[in-house]
Amino acid sequence: MPGVRSKPGRKETVAKPKFQAPKGMRDLLPEDMERFRAVERAFRETCRLFGYREIRTPHLEATELFKRTVGETTDIVEKEMYTLTTKGGDELALRPENTAGVVRAYLEHGMHRSAPLQRFFYWGEMFRHESKQKKRYREFTQAGVECIGSPGAAADAEVIALAVEFFKALGLGHVRLELSTFGCPNCRPRFREALEEHFRINHKGLCKDCLRRLGANVFRILDCKNGSCRELVDDAPTIDGFLDTKCRAHFEDVKSVLNDMVIACEVNPHLVRGLDYYTRTVFEIFPADESGRQDALGAGGRYDGLAELLGGPSVPAVGFALGVDRIVRERKGEGRGAAAELGIDVYVAGPLQLIGLSQKKYRYNVEHLVIALRRAGLSCVSDLCTKRLGAQLKDADKLRASVAVILGEDEVAEDAVRLKNLQTGEQRDVNENQMVSEVKKMLETQRKESGE
Ligand code: HAM
Repeated sequence: MPGVRSKPGRKETVAKPKFQAPKGMRDLLPEDMERFRAVERAFRETCRLFGYREIRTPHLEATELFKRTVGETTDIVEKEMYTLTTKGGDELALRPENTAGVVRAYLEHGMHRSAPLQRFFYWGEMFRHESKQKKRYREFTQAGVECIGSPGAAADAEVIALAVEFFKALGLGHVRLELSTFGCPNCRPRFREALEEHFRINHKGLCKDCLRRLGANVFRILDCKNGSCRELVDDAPTIDGFLDTKCRAHFEDVKSVLNDMVIACEVNPHLVRGLDYYTRTVFEIFPADESGRQDALGAGGRYDGLAELLGGPSVPAVGFALGVDRIVRERKGEGRGAAAELGIDVYVAGPLQLIGLSQKKYRYNVEHLVIALRRAGLSCVSDLCTKRLGAQLKDADKLRASVAVILGEDEVAEDAVRLKNLQTGEQRDVNENQMVSEVKKMLETQRKESGE
């Protein structure tokens, strides 16, 4: 605990704090936040370049919204939703994903009438009560885009290109894109029959959940994580044998536009999405190394029937969501952190004896300097714990300050301050009213020297 010292030689037992973050949820500490913000900035900038505009919808939505769209028999709806009943009796759920919410908003605000083609992006927290696993959180951040209003393959390719550009901007240009198609309601009955037959013949290998899924929604078996079910899934028929002419042509078009854009993809007919609303194109993005096979960094696809499921007109749409927590982990593993973000510009320091002599005058001077620096747009802190000068400079180091402004007894008497370049150690005294411009010069020199 800060400020509490144990006696030398005595082992300290640290009691577990009474309150901890809920299971599967975690605190993002300032270092984590810097990493998240770096990803967010890259995502926002990529969306800007592609003409996508931000939309923000509530964290809570009607439970029915997800039942209808994501699907009653999906794991997300069946097992993972956090639901509640309000005092007024409304059934709400913490959003497990955001596509349904965005389409709900698109219809609610009549955007399909005013400007049918809309390009949205979002950044926000989602909630799924998942079983405890590495890289799966119960509260996690998604960065997503939804391109609503175009049925063409160019829209599918556009959102995929956006994801690819974003990963490049982050320095993770080597991700692997897996692509498939899930056909449409026209192709699916024959596919469903073939799957039902396959799993009925092999029902002994299915888990309890999948035996139930066989009757309710056989497609959900394709998504089961159980080992023996997975083996049966690997041998199951795939959609490519059942596509109708239009779905086949659309898939060929998507691959061809991606090819024109020089975006590499692997066609994987076994690719399955854990949400019911997909039609035609589906894709997932993985880290390039095989170890990440199970943990997609992001996923998406086309969902031409979703607006109609919500009582709206037929509106074709395609989008994706990326798992920001996983992307941050991936970057961290590659040694890309938040170093550039951590530093502050200036630490204003002063010796302790000065505080003892004329604390008021000293603090007045410090505050005066700190305010002037902040108003000039420089991030700046000063000591709040009456530490010695040496300890203050150690703090400056921890905070990765670039420049220290040191206010000594002599300097106070002469309306001067000492500037210390904390990267080179160089020091010089300047008049107080030149401090801001001199600090800026020093920071500029540092930036040039580090090649920024
Ligand atoms: P999803 O596949 O359920 O799709 O989630 C997208 C991504 O969110 C995943 O690939 C993963 O990176 C991340 N993710 C999902 N669950 C967790 C978790 N528990 N912990 C950490 N990360 C997680 C969707 O949500 C669709 N709405 C995507 C979409 C948008 N399709 C069309 N438009």
